[in-house]
Amino acid sequence: MKTRFQLNGREVFSEAPPMTRLLDVLREEFGFTGSKEGCGEGECGACSVLLDGRSVCACLVPVCQVEGGDVVSVEGLAEDDRLHPIQAAFLAHGAAQCGICTPGFLIMAAELLKRDEMVTREDLRAGLAGNLCRCTGYQKIVDAVAEVVGVES
Ligand code: FES
Ligand code: FES
Repeated sequence: MKTRFQLNGREVFSEAPPMTRLLDVLREEFGFTGSKEGCGEGECGACSVLLDGRSVCACLVPVCQVEGGDVVSVEGLAEDDRLHPIQAAFLAHGAAQCGICTPGFLIMAAELLKRDEMVTREDLRAGLAGNLCRCTGYQKIVDAVAEVVGVES
């Protein structure tokens, strides 16, 4: 049985068994290796993708659950070779070091950009709390997201 869904703006059909993790389908079947495996247990957020506009852990989602859905991985954020504003802000602020966590933060931030309730840095920190980073100390990440969301420092 094939699973049909939208992936980064185009219709795809996965041949993987229904309980295959979406993370493995993205990386191994479709070659989108931007989503990373950190913990494999839903704890770190490195594997985050948007599913119908909400961030989910692709390590926890079986591919059968995305039937008919709209999946966006980090590769789908840029448009026409132009960086998404959140990608440009991460670059400008030096918000990545080893980069393992970065795709997940970019996806989570892309979701936060669409929420009206992000008005303070504490809101942003709470919104990003499901994504872990071992390298940056978070300050530059929050600075980058705050700039794009329009939150004052
Ligand atoms: Fe999915 Fe850590 S790899 S949450
Ligand atoms: Fe290394 Fe975040 S930049 S884990």
